Amino acid sequence: KQMEKENHSMVSEFILLGLTESHELQVFFYLFFSTIYVSIVLGNLIVIFVVKLDPQLHSPMYFLLANLSFIDMSLASFATPKMIYNLNSGYNTISYEGCMTQMFFLHLLGGSEMMMLVAMAIDRYIAICKPLHYKTIMSNRVCIGLILLSWTTGFVHTMSQMVFTITLPFCGPNVVDSFFCDLPRVIKLACTDTYILELLVIADSGLLSLFCFIVLFISYSIILIIVQHRSSRGSSKALSTLSAHITVVVLFFGPCIFIYVWPFNSVSIDKILSVFYTIFTPLLNPIIYTFRNKDMRNALRKIKTKHISSRSIF
Ligand SMILES: *[C@@H]1O[C@H](CO)[C@@H](O)[C@H](O)[C@H]1NC(C)=O
Repeated sequence: KQMEKENHSMVSEFILLGLTESHELQVFFYLFFSTIYVSIVLGNLIVIFVVKLDPQLHSPMYFLLANLSFIDMSLASFATPKMIYNLNSGYNTISYEGCMTQMFFLHLLGGSEMMMLVAMAIDRYIAICKPLHYKTIMSNRVCIGLILLSWTTGFVHTMSQMVFTITLPFCGPNVVDSFFCDLPRVIKLACTDTYILELLVIADSGLLSLFCFIVLFISYSIILIIVQHRSSRGSSKALSTLSAHITVVVLFFGPCIFIYVWPFNSVSIDKILSVFYTIFTPLLNPIIYTFRNKDMRNALRKIKTKHISSRSIF
């Protein structure tokens, strides 16, 4: 027991190799990701505030959207600021605790985001397939229930892997070839046999993303078939909302499933894909949902005019 404890303390920090070793590219990535990070935070804050401020958007669909924006903002914040800081400072270590924290949040937020996308699909399914019962089925309580369910899923998903990971002894190599700590990479560094744990991680993340993806695939297929059979003006609006949802789903799940379910990846492909679900999806969500959505655009315009007219009074 004592021996194990000593071994465990041998690695107190990990080295993150980052995205590239070329200095010129690092400067470029520093500017690029700083800009993108600021846009992610601003874009998602705008979504959250517009939904809060406009009473017309106080409906389950927009509450779920605002909650998705909150998750997106967090998903972009658990590793990206550290990466930007490292790019600028040339400093590339992360403490043992920092590494464990990153993995905890990656899977908490990733799992919650997946279930939130499922909740949004369920909401659209009821709105389009059972329009007459929508108000009674999607009550405030059901909406809050779906949000709680998605956070619970994320929490169970991350804890089921982290309880084993924090007991692993790390005594040897400590180089993580990525820009944040992720479970499959870090587990491989432990100085013990981690075969079973690696299987658990792949099964856990793989099954969750496959399950959510299949539910999403089926519900959006049914919705699309139903919308196709109606030919009215309402259905073209439904189609544009749906295409936004489906784009986000594909962009988020494609990389996740590829990393966790497909076992033959090279490190460089994994790195590019992890940029996708930690940086590009959180950026795209506000763009796709806000600027392609008429109600959101109108709400934004209303808030702007209100702000300008109240300023001109004083
Ligand atoms: C999440 O949804 C609930 C309503 O179901 C809402 O009260 C809350 O403000 C939302 N969270 C965010 C960050 O918008």
